[in-house]
Amino acid sequence: MTLPVNAGAQDAAEIESRIQALLGEMTLDEKIGQMTLVHSYGPIEGDFLENLRAGRIGAILNDVDLARVNEMQRIAVEETRLGIPLLVGRDVIHGFRTVMPIPLGQAASWNPELVERGARIAALEAASHGVNWTFAPMIDITRDPRWGRIAETLGEDPHLASVLGAAMVRGFQGDDLAALGTIAACAKHFAGYGASEAGRDYATTNIPENELRNVFLPPFKAALDAGVASFMTSFSDLNGVPATGNSLLLQDILRDEWQYDGFVVSDWASVEQLKIHGLTANDRESALAAVTAGVDMEMASTTYREHLADLVADGEVSEATLDEMVGNVLRAKLMLGLFENAQTDPAALPPTGNPTHLQVALESAVQSLVLLKNDNDTLPLSDAGLSSVAVIGPLADDGYEQLGTWIFDGDPSLSQTPLAALTGRAGDAFRVRHVRAMETSRSRDAALEEAAAAARDADVALLFLGEESILSGEAHSRADISLPGSQEALVKAVAATGTPVVAVIMAGRPLTLANVLDDIDALVYAWHPGTMAGPAIVRVLFGDEVPSGKLPVTFPRMVGQVPIYYSQKNTGKPATPESVVHIDDIEVRAAQTSFGMTSFHLDAGATPQFPFGFGLSYTTFAYSDLELDREAVPYGGTLTASAVLTNTGKRAGTEIVQLYIRDPAASVTRPVRELKGFQRVTLAPGESRRISFRLTPELLSFTGRDMQTVLEPGEFRVWIGGNSDASLQARFDMLGAD
Ligand code: GLC
Repeated sequence: MTLPVNAGAQDAAEIESRIQALLGEMTLDEKIGQMTLVHSYGPIEGDFLENLRAGRIGAILNDVDLARVNEMQRIAVEETRLGIPLLVGRDVIHGFRTVMPIPLGQAASWNPELVERGARIAALEAASHGVNWTFAPMIDITRDPRWGRIAETLGEDPHLASVLGAAMVRGFQGDDLAALGTIAACAKHFAGYGASEAGRDYATTNIPENELRNVFLPPFKAALDAGVASFMTSFSDLNGVPATGNSLLLQDILRDEWQYDGFVVSDWASVEQLKIHGLTANDRESALAAVTAGVDMEMASTTYREHLADLVADGEVSEATLDEMVGNVLRAKLMLGLFENAQTDPAALPPTGNPTHLQVALESAVQSLVLLKNDNDTLPLSDAGLSSVAVIGPLADDGYEQLGTWIFDGDPSLSQTPLAALTGRAGDAFRVRHVRAMETSRSRDAALEEAAAAARDADVALLFLGEESILSGEAHSRADISLPGSQEALVKAVAATGTPVVAVIMAGRPLTLANVLDDIDALVYAWHPGTMAGPAIVRVLFGDEVPSGKLPVTFPRMVGQVPIYYSQKNTGKPATPESVVHIDDIEVRAAQTSFGMTSFHLDAGATPQFPFGFGLSYTTFAYSDLELDREAVPYGGTLTASAVLTNTGKRAGTEIVQLYIRDPAASVTRPVRELKGFQRVTLAPGESRRISFRLTPELLSFTGRDMQTVLEPGEFRVWIGGNSDASLQARFDMLGAD
């Protein structure tokens, strides 16, 4: 963790000397205390107070009662022998009181500057409640929308997640961790958690090391390069060695290769769970496995407190090892400036939920919205052309559900819902009739006739559908990822009226929509858009804002296609349009090898419902003239790829221009496409602009068979376009090293 430029009132050398001075005074018990993170709630009394005073607690989590947090900091500083202040951790995943879109939704903005601003707001609000450490960004890569925690991710792509994860780190930490309102970030969950088998949370992950290094690790390296103060180990079993006891991850890669000097915290009781996994026989062995692998701090369970002293006494763990680990924790506390001041004065920070914060939440929500369908230019709606609007569905007016998962401190009373925003906009201009139709998103019974009647009587039916927030997030995986409950029936009942149907879907994951897509004229995917869902959605529906969001994750046609993602390997028999046959079109007693013989599903084909990077606008864009400034690149050289983007429509709009590459022949097979650059470009109608990308050797390199980063000579292909199916392409050769 390279020290930020102005790390508070001290520099690296001073911090290291202070660490050594403290270690020289600390007892073994106090050192183990710094490695102990305790769940704090309720009054400061009993064993908790005794342990606090004895210096046996180095950090607390989940307490945001400022008076209590300040009192705990006072006790730690004034009533312990060495006065070491506490880390105060909290899951501030996508906002504190003011809630931004879920991270998957923020990823749809492809806007690192905006993502950084959202994290900045979250840090300010959390810091005003005594929090100085958040367990975010969550930068797991996943290609499995069954997994409930996809909601917390920044999507399926390593490059996008790397850029946006680093932006979150900068937002949380600022450029000086000791500055007021900055909080330490935590890159989680290290690593490979998103590959949980069957998308079932906490399930086994089996990831070849080459794939781990090429797909799952890059966002963590990007977070490290951005200065992230801590890492959190994953719950998951990685190739037979759970991450919390995995020295390949925590020593070989994180410390030896990446030279990380931040600290590593376990996930909740994941040290104690090592025996449940079957890696150890008991808590003492679990403590040994985790401390040996390199877990500096144990969250929630107490195997360190119970067994580390004995392990040192028995010579199984050296105190020098503990000194190194405690030093990692002290370094963060010193960089946070906690020794200079551990108290929080809320008056010194902006109030939560203030208009500035809400404005950032609005902008973030607007840019997270993805227009997936817009037949007959159903959208944008025109106020003038409307006399009656039907607002139907369980998520049109639910200030809690629109916030999404992981909003421990979100404030639903701040929420502005779509119905409220629409009603406010309507005024006397047009009528708004609201039919919730379903009590919850899972309701099996729906007021279909009432909904249809409202639709029949309206110029347009706005359907607000999707998932309640509890249906995604930790431990909330789904095997069927279609619209829950009777929502499909609701869509069909409304569509049967013939009134144009606009669906706005709030969900914590991609849903399978094949059964209803034909019944919907326009579709806006809103993820869980947070506090300002209502104004954001209404502004886009009426064209005050032109949608610019692009999918950060692939949408399957059917859950049986999962995992399905754009950066797949070609296989030896890739599907082609000619080779794909639909199950309904197969002749009776067709000869076994008479069709297909390539990689696809008979009942789903080989393509997704919507590809990674896809999103429509209220205008149209065209790409032309893809140029490379050279087509024979000296080994290790850089080249520039560019293309002309033209706004061919009638409205100004913002396009997220994407650049993909492919290395068609390499020492290990490479994906058919890999995102290596993107830019947000706003153009007026008719305007054209050449958009350029620099392709550096780092972007063309990958981890080869020997687990080393390699840049291999040979042909490369390049695409520039508006999604991962881009067709405008060029090629170049990376020449061999002399
Ligand atoms: C949870 C999550 C982790 C979170 C931690 C603290 O189980 O896995 O992401 O930060 O515990 O709440």
